[in-house]
Amino acid sequence: MAEKSKNLFIGGTGYIGKYLVEASAQSGHPTFLLVRESTLSNPEKSTVIGKFKTLGVRFLTVSSNSSLRGLQGDLYDHESLVKAIRQVDVVISTVGYAQLLDQVRIISAIKEAGNIKRFLPSEFGSDVDHVNAVEPAKTAFASKAKVRRAIESEGIPFTYVSSNLFNGIFLATLTQLGTTAPPRDKVVIFGDGNPKGKHPTNASAG
Ligand SMILES: NC(=O)c1ccc[n+]([C@@H]2O[C@H](COP(=O)([O-])OP(=O)(O)OC[C@H]3O[C@@H](n4cnc5c(N)ncnc54)[C@H](OP(=O)(O)O)[C@@H]3O)[C@@H](O)[C@H]2O)c1
Repeated sequence: MAEKSKNLFIGGTGYIGKYLVEASAQSGHPTFLLVRESTLSNPEKSTVIGKFKTLGVRFLTVSSNSSLRGLQGDLYDHESLVKAIRQVDVVISTVGYAQLLDQVRIISAIKEAGNIKRFLPSEFGSDVDHVNAVEPAKTAFASKAKVRRAIESEGIPFTYVSSNLFNGIFLATLTQLGTTAPPRDKVVIFGDGNPKGKHPTNASAG
């Protein structure tokens, strides 16, 4: 039987990341998580961290450079990133909206490490090369497309996972951003209200 790839997650304690980390560990992949010390000690994250521990997920936080104290396990600490990446075969990013463009830091660390067989950037939504989005999605999709082009120009093997909209998040609020319950007075329709929805589900790879 083929050896299971060693998977490194960046952003694995987030909304989507936690499911992927769990699935990776449960499928028998040696599973690593780049995680900030502040996250490990955050009471709100204790349930997910506890679950990961029971699944044998390995937490990568420590940098050998003591001057980086407080930055260990952070996407913005190049040394932590390269050190973590050198220990695995596959890198899976599930960082959130605010860090999408900063995935160029992961790309440059992957290039420096030189050992990665496949990179999955933070996608898990629409296929950003094949949709005509309206704001506010348009800007996020443009960031994801920019990251795709950076991966391709560096020649890093990739898989882009396009899984469309998660109704568990958006249906309950009728896609009204910043709300937690369906609005009772009015619903904002994005764009001019005429774009048609398409539902291809796929993963593209190169
Ligand atoms: N298809 C859909 O309907 C849908 C819905 C939601 C999201 N998505 C997509 O899924 C992807 C993930 O989104 P999400 O909502 O799951 O993200 P999220 O919940 O915001 O999680 C972001 C993760 O990144 C970590 N992080 C933040 N800053 C970091 C840093 N400086 N260094 C290291 N880690 C850092 C966070 O750590 P902490 O745990 O410390 O915060 C967290 O684990 C995005 O591409 C998003 O567009 C798709």
